[in-house]
Amino acid sequence: MSRRMLVAGNWKMNCTYTEAVNLAQQLSYACEDWDQIDVCVCPPFTALRGVSNVIDFDRARFKVGAQNVYFEKAGAYTGEISPGMLKDLDCEYCIIGHSERREYLGETDEMVNKKAQALLDEGIIPIVCVGEPVDVYDAGKTHEYVCGQVEAALSGLALTGVQDIVVAYEPIWAIGTGKVPIPEEAQDVCAAIRQSVAKVLGEEQAQKTRVLYGGSVQPANSRLFFDQPDIDGGLIGGAALKADQFADIVKEALNA
Ligand code: PGA
Repeated sequence: MSRRMLVAGNWKMNCTYTEAVNLAQQLSYACEDWDQIDVCVCPPFTALRGVSNVIDFDRARFKVGAQNVYFEKAGAYTGEISPGMLKDLDCEYCIIGHSERREYLGETDEMVNKKAQALLDEGIIPIVCVGEPVDVYDAGKTHEYVCGQVEAALSGLALTGVQDIVVAYEPIWAIGTGKVPIPEEAQDVCAAIRQSVAKVLGEEQAQKTRVLYGGSVQPANSRLFFDQPDIDGGLIGGAALKADQFADIVKEALNA
């Protein structure tokens, strides 16, 4: 099955509202031929409206997504944001389970599972992040660890809303470090991830699920990952904050 490539930018806790609008405007100049693949940017909550306004106004060929969500619909959850609130701001994607949230903010597999269901129910595509810490990698236990995360995140999901799920494989030791796995190694993990998706959600869903690679993706190395058969795009951190670099990565995905 041919899957449409996805390049997603994770802006993390960067960009004020004004900076985010500027970055979105720069991307909108660059995005004329971004038709053959899906592209989305995930700014902080405070800039979602600003970025989606730029997209609307310029009819830009990329989408907006969020970096987190809460799994309840509404209520006394001070500081949290619901899937419905994201939908109202035109979010088509939402990152969940990023390793930084797992490490610093106590996000568990169980929460990731609930968030995935809540997003699917609202028609938002979850980008479920998984990835191993360096000690697990060194011990040669990556597949076991990552597949365990995938199964925990996706088990029991009812695919009654959108059936589009994205899994991003991001080795923790590769995030923001300039270190990357060899592309064939990332391919092996992404193939194993697809098998785990098949195990919990069936073969058909596994074939349409996009598996991204993330962690120190740059214009110069992106194509090596995008050319792998089980890698369907990238989740880009640092390089997503520079419009020219992000556009160059999108170009590599278009050519892959
Ligand atoms: P990086 O971040 O591209 O800066 O390594 C990727 C991510 O954390 O999503």
